[in-house]
Amino acid sequence: MEHGLEVTHLNIQPGGSIKVRGKILPDAKGFALNVGKDSSNLMLHFNPRFDCHGDVNTIVCNSREDGAWGAEERETDFPFQQGDKTEICISFDTAELKVGLADKEIVFPNRLSLEKIEYVSTEGDFEVKVIKFN
Ligand code: GAL
Repeated sequence: MEHGLEVTHLNIQPGGSIKVRGKILPDAKGFALNVGKDSSNLMLHFNPRFDCHGDVNTIVCNSREDGAWGAEERETDFPFQQGDKTEICISFDTAELKVGLADKEIVFPNRLSLEKIEYVSTEGDFEVKVIKFN
């Protein structure tokens, strides 16, 4: 997927969060939000897939260390709709990350044990309208 927004040199501490508001494109195949140290070291790749990589209406979550993907976790309770506006709030501490969606929360372990978020990016069929760091 093509990179959209990329933010570097952040210093978000445990207990902090990132809120992203945006629009899922009407013909979206998939999009992703990434948080971590840099593009090769991700605490979380949060990847709703409408129809890509053989997945339909599935959220794939993964980590990435030195460029190598970890083990995927899949969630098939899929709250996204093509063409909709959406808000995603990612908070973290040294143990885990929480992804807050409208009616749902997804928890993913902080496998890399990173102690700050320095990097945030988006990929794919998603247009960022607002991004907020706390
Ligand atoms: C791959 C895909 C990557 C990423 C990864 C997550 O198949 O090419 O973009 O989503 O899965 O495990």
